[in-house]
Amino acid sequence: MTLLLLQNLQKLQNSSKSQPDMEINEIEEKLKSEIESFRAEISNTSSLDELYRIRAKYAGAKSLVVTTLGNIGALPKELRPVAGKEANEIKKEIESAISQKEKFFKNIQFDQELRKEKTDLSLPGNAVQCGKKHIISQVIEEIEDIFIGMGFEVAEGPEVETDYYNFEALNTPPDHPARSLHDTFFISDDTLLRTQTSPVQIRYMEKHQPPVYIIAPGKVYRKDYDISHTPMFTQIEGLVVDKGINFGNLKWTLETFAHEVFGKERAVRFRPHYFPFTEPSAEVDVSCAICEGKGCRTCGGSGWLEILGAGMVDPNLYKYVKYDAENVNGFAFGMGIERICMLKYGIDDIRLFYENDLRFIRQF
Ligand code: PHE
Repeated sequence: MTLLLLQNLQKLQNSSKSQPDMEINEIEEKLKSEIESFRAEISNTSSLDELYRIRAKYAGAKSLVVTTLGNIGALPKELRPVAGKEANEIKKEIESAISQKEKFFKNIQFDQELRKEKTDLSLPGNAVQCGKKHIISQVIEEIEDIFIGMGFEVAEGPEVETDYYNFEALNTPPDHPARSLHDTFFISDDTLLRTQTSPVQIRYMEKHQPPVYIIAPGKVYRKDYDISHTPMFTQIEGLVVDKGINFGNLKWTLETFAHEVFGKERAVRFRPHYFPFTEPSAEVDVSCAICEGKGCRTCGGSGWLEILGAGMVDPNLYKYVKYDAENVNGFAFGMGIERICMLKYGIDDIRLFYENDLRFIRQF
């Protein structure tokens, strides 16, 4: 470029004697040093900011190149093409060098942004915890399935009960000593939280004629709290009323149930017992799964855990529900679901079911 300029200048000098040489040389020198300092600066730029500063300095409105081009009209006519060409070439070089560098820095910037936004697909995700049925609900459903398989239906009754259904119609009049065993939560003299699911027997028989084959799961309440008692717990009641039902039917039903739930290796035993609404009555124990019958804290050292009460329906009950006691008979049972869960899963404290410690609950 400089060579070209010199040649042109020489031509000009030869053809036009009127123009002083000084002015041409001066412009040429200034432009030459401008482009040299531009080249030096741009090769040392290390950021976009710096580049924009250089652009303003060498290609901005006040830069030498732009002002030279702007003032070209003030030069003598013969010099204009040469000075214009010279300045334009410099301007082009400056602009193309800047746009190249700009692209280069923008690529780096883009790369950095991409790297910042990059998602590491190999990182472990945030697991979403799904809720599910409480272990007690799961076991209720399992037991329902066993009895439904034997032809039973599922019935229900209220948790807030009257004294009549919870006690009186179950052959437990006021002053009956069995009442004191129940640690009842009374709401009023006549209203209480049911202490057992047995009132569903009466409510069901009032509304249905035999044959009756039902189970009735639900919550029951007693004032009690220790390793084997919580003030709210769950029972499943069973009631069969038909013609010719005997104790053998009861035994078979409960043994079949116990072996289905706990497995054939668990032993089952019937102990004579007393309930106001069954006669004869029995308590049914299953050999303790935790100590395998050797005796431990949970089974109180006996090797057995009581899971239910049962017996033949006391014919007295039929009077309350207007059944013909001469023509029908039946059996009933009531089991504690928490006890059954404890046996099934080897849990040694009933309170764990209701403390809502997720480390416990999530295991099932
Ligand atoms: N309702 C009795 C209890 O809670 C259990 C039971 C039910 C016993 C049915 C006999 C018949 O202890």
